[in-house]
Amino acid sequence: MAVKTLSDLLAEGVSGRGVLVRSDFNVPLNDDRQITDPGRIIASLPTLKALSDAGAKLVVTAHLGRPKGEPDPKFSLAPVARDLGERLGRHVQLAGDVVGSDALARAEGLTDGDILLLENIRFDPRETSKDDAERESLAKALVELVGDDGAFVSDGFGVVHRKQASVFDVAKLLPHYAGKLVATEVKVLEQLTESTERPYAVVLGGSKVSDKLAVIENLATKADSLIIGGGMCFTFLAAQGLSVGSSLLEEGMVDTCRKLLDTYADVLHLPVDIVVAEKFAADSPPETVSCDAIPDDKMGLDIGPESVKRFAALLSNARTVFWNGPMGVFEFPAFSAGTKGVAEAIIAATGKGGFSVVGGGDSAAAVRQLGLPDDGFSHISTGGGASLEYLEGKTLPGISVLES
Ligand code: 3PG
Repeated sequence: MAVKTLSDLLAEGVSGRGVLVRSDFNVPLNDDRQITDPGRIIASLPTLKALSDAGAKLVVTAHLGRPKGEPDPKFSLAPVARDLGERLGRHVQLAGDVVGSDALARAEGLTDGDILLLENIRFDPRETSKDDAERESLAKALVELVGDDGAFVSDGFGVVHRKQASVFDVAKLLPHYAGKLVATEVKVLEQLTESTERPYAVVLGGSKVSDKLAVIENLATKADSLIIGGGMCFTFLAAQGLSVGSSLLEEGMVDTCRKLLDTYADVLHLPVDIVVAEKFAADSPPETVSCDAIPDDKMGLDIGPESVKRFAALLSNARTVFWNGPMGVFEFPAFSAGTKGVAEAIIAATGKGGFSVVGGGDSAAAVRQLGLPDDGFSHISTGGGASLEYLEGKTLPGISVLES
């Protein structure tokens, strides 16, 4: 990546200088607004710590969820500021606004090493505006917080596929650097795509084929095997003419799946058995059935043990594995065995010297919630959508802007 990195910025010297950092703190919260998976916060620490230790006056910006362009307490970054402060072992101030008078006053009062977190950047409608001038005006307001001699560090890998003010436009106004997380993530994705050791196995799950179509089409031409599980496998099973009961089904995608199955017959692998239940509930009694015997009144909530065995055999000799999307409803213990079994097979391949990447989102959450060891994989990405778009071959605006 021909971009300047955090090491370059640190070498230039940041003591007493305002540095704007874009992090991705879009973490899941429960009903009590407690963070249920702090993975993204933990991944942001090395960059923030290095800058704070070097005496930068840090202004950190991030989003949480998808508020409608106005302040909404439900999406406040307050839980993140608390968690971040505890992990860094220093106070992290939270501004009461995004780029308003409180943010400005706090930014002006920063001393060397201080960290100010701005309120959810998506409380400002200009962040996600399609209008270049609107986004630029928010970017200018962000620049004001760090001053004209400030610098911008892009470290929110999970959001680099978005052309948004705090990700893209601000990099045009300030000297810009890739943070440690962004640099690491891009390096891993480059290794995955440019020096892929074979056999290369891809495991895709999750609920919708339509979300994964581009990546399936792209990776089916590159991988030796592409394993499909999760809710989206039912649209593929339907395309094979099987009845899927009340399982998740994207009727409009059945023809597309049929074409994919015809074109990539040797590469695509579907489950052979399914764990079904009467309803989408943790306590709905599970039953394992063959894929061609899904009862009309039942829905598939996980792949079955025979499928896990077959997928594990495919993964056992893989030298490269990319995994995105759970195999079933892993949040319900009765329907988590498929995801756990496949994850364990990937860990075994990694243990034998394979290179494995977990592509963010739900699969990263599954690793942690199912108690699997983080270090069982070569890399767990913080970016679900971002890593998928990279693998689809798309240009990521938040990365390309750093190259200019
Ligand atoms: C994510 O959760 O994938 C990133 O934080 C991006 O969020 P978005 O899909 O709401 O832009």
